Amino acid sequence: MAADVIATCVAEKPNCVLGLATGTTPIGLYADLVSDYKAGKISFANVTSFNLDEYVGLAGTHPQSYRYFMNDNLFDHVDIDKARTHVPDGTGDDDQRVSDEYEAAIREAGGVDIQLLGIGPNGHIGFNEPCDEFPVRTHRVELTESTRKANSRLFDSIDEVPHFARTMGIGTIMRARKILLVASGAGKAEIVRKALYGPVTPRVPASILQFHPDVTVVVDAEAGSRLD
Ligand code: F6R
Repeated sequence: MAADVIATCVAEKPNCVLGLATGTTPIGLYADLVSDYKAGKISFANVTSFNLDEYVGLAGTHPQSYRYFMNDNLFDHVDIDKARTHVPDGTGDDDQRVSDEYEAAIREAGGVDIQLLGIGPNGHIGFNEPCDEFPVRTHRVELTESTRKANSRLFDSIDEVPHFARTMGIGTIMRARKILLVASGAGKAEIVRKALYGPVTPRVPASILQFHPDVTVVVDAEAGSRLD
């Protein structure tokens, strides 16, 4: 269902700008988009993409980097022009430069048409962790221990999980024209309820989506089990 939302966007606007996410939840979605491409139903030839986030310290060739994930799950299997795929630069120390360049590139591309989001068990979107103020722009963030623990399943040990990431800010995400939030599994049920029906607070970063005018939420039965 979520893949169809993206595929419709690409069919209606072949040069659309996709905001993409990594993580376990969208893996099936990307597989469906690859199948649609192979079946001749969809082309990414004119699509531009911007990913939400990247670990600091991992080059794009590192198997746990988000650039690697995107190549592996989508970009290597469709006709997208890799020069038009963007993932925040995880290398180097110049946070300001990475932030300014990423924000400018999104603006120059005309803004994101549809932003795909997963949700962390703590309510994070991108790597915007619970905090006191909504971060506005692309920035460097220190990952919480709970996020490092949740993501350690993909590394050999928790010690290998980077402590920092670079992520689009909440302002960057909120400027997307449409949002598509996906969640699956019982472990997301309570946070999905809080995000959609609880108070809007930077303590639950995804709750800001209540203020976005065009949000589609796709959940499986377990993740949706606490919703009316
Ligand atoms: C990934 C991202 C994260 C994930 C979230 C859920 O680019 O920005 O916010 O969407 O951590 O991850 P999964 O889908 O693995 O549960």
